[in-house]
Amino acid sequence: LPKEHSLIIEAHELLAKFYHHLLMNTNEGARALDYLLKRGFTKESIQKFKVGYSLPEWDFAVKFLENRGFTHDLMEKAGLLSIREKDGSYFDRFRDRLMFPLHDSKGRIVAFSARALTEENQPKYLNTPETVLFNKSSLLYNYYNARAHIRRQGNVVLFEGFADVISADSAEVKNCVAVMGTALTEKHIQLLNRLTNSVTLCFDSDSAGAEAAYRSGQMLANYGIEINVVILPDKLDPDDYIRKYGPEKFREHVIGNAQTWMAYKLHYFRKGKNLQNEGEKLWFIEKALVEIGKLENAVERELYLRQLSDEFSLSLEALVEQQSQMNVTREKKQQKNIDQKNINQQNIPQP
Ligand code: GTP
Ligand code: MN
Ligand code: MN
Ligand code: MN
Ligand code: MN
Repeated sequence: LPKEHSLIIEAHELLAKFYHHLLMNTNEGARALDYLLKRGFTKESIQKFKVGYSLPEWDFAVKFLENRGFTHDLMEKAGLLSIREKDGSYFDRFRDRLMFPLHDSKGRIVAFSARALTEENQPKYLNTPETVLFNKSSLLYNYYNARAHIRRQGNVVLFEGFADVISADSAEVKNCVAVMGTALTEKHIQLLNRLTNSVTLCFDSDSAGAEAAYRSGQMLANYGIEINVVILPDKLDPDDYIRKYGPEKFREHVIGNAQTWMAYKLHYFRKGKNLQNEGEKLWFIEKALVEIGKLENAVERELYLRQLSDEFSLSLEALVEQQSQMNVTREKKQQKNIDQKNINQQNIPQP
């Protein structure tokens, strides 16, 4: 088995090198290179991230791998080739796409994510399927390159897409990784937790991004990780933002202007609510009081309570009283549950 693993890695490394050559140095790759440069990718970052281009042929990788002694069967298991149902013959999984090599935490290429060059070509991104070496729920893009920077800076910036990572890296934000288009997992958190206990979430500023930031933050909070959240304007993603406003403004935004987790939650609860409406206003205040009540730091608690009190012209006393009443209600509920459990346990027939 380990022999198979090293063959799979070798095949990926060789193909990645060739895809990169096709992109940088050939007429066939010119259109793809032009796309990247027009998007604002620099040649340096294309080189650093070994971006490549796969030809629009059905058997380029088939032959390339065959000539180097790799068996079709293993290369299919590696996710590089697919099988035709009608006759069991092999064809290239990746054709006419930008090729982004995916490195594991040891820096070895174990998979690709391949981006279409046009809207008509769907899906936008085609990944290597699950293999013995690749599982997208446990891989973070750029983890290997970023780990030293993450350690040194005591913080990691987490993105949704790897285009964002490549842009951020060229904007001198080196402590960055991205999930591979999945939700954040326990495995991802364990990888990050080895390096730092401070995570800055920098997701797309659309509603999917806002939801993902909230869910990811909740998971990270359970691990006692310090969380900050960047809120970008105008439905931009970080890559768009860097192109539109430049690297300096991005760094200021990320480093200087990220919201605390508490502030982000309040922002999140507000979204889509009409706080002129009494019912929605009360709902928001209750929600906020619950979250503020969870803060361990008394000064922080007071800070956010004062903000609420100012915004809604409510006395601090009323807010504090409501908060302690909510605590009493919660404790009563908990006590009721415990009582109920005790009753249930008493009813368990003894053997
Ligand atoms: P660009 O459009 O190239 O700027 O990509 P993006 O990173 O902005 O993509 P988007 O915000 O739509 O998605 C974020 C991440 O989700 C991407 O980096 C991919 O990893 C993943 N993703 C997006 N679209 C697809 C898809 O069609 N298939 C798969 N498998 N993953 C996708
Ligand atoms: Mn490598
Ligand atoms: Mn998105
Ligand atoms: Mn995006
Ligand atoms: Mn994008």
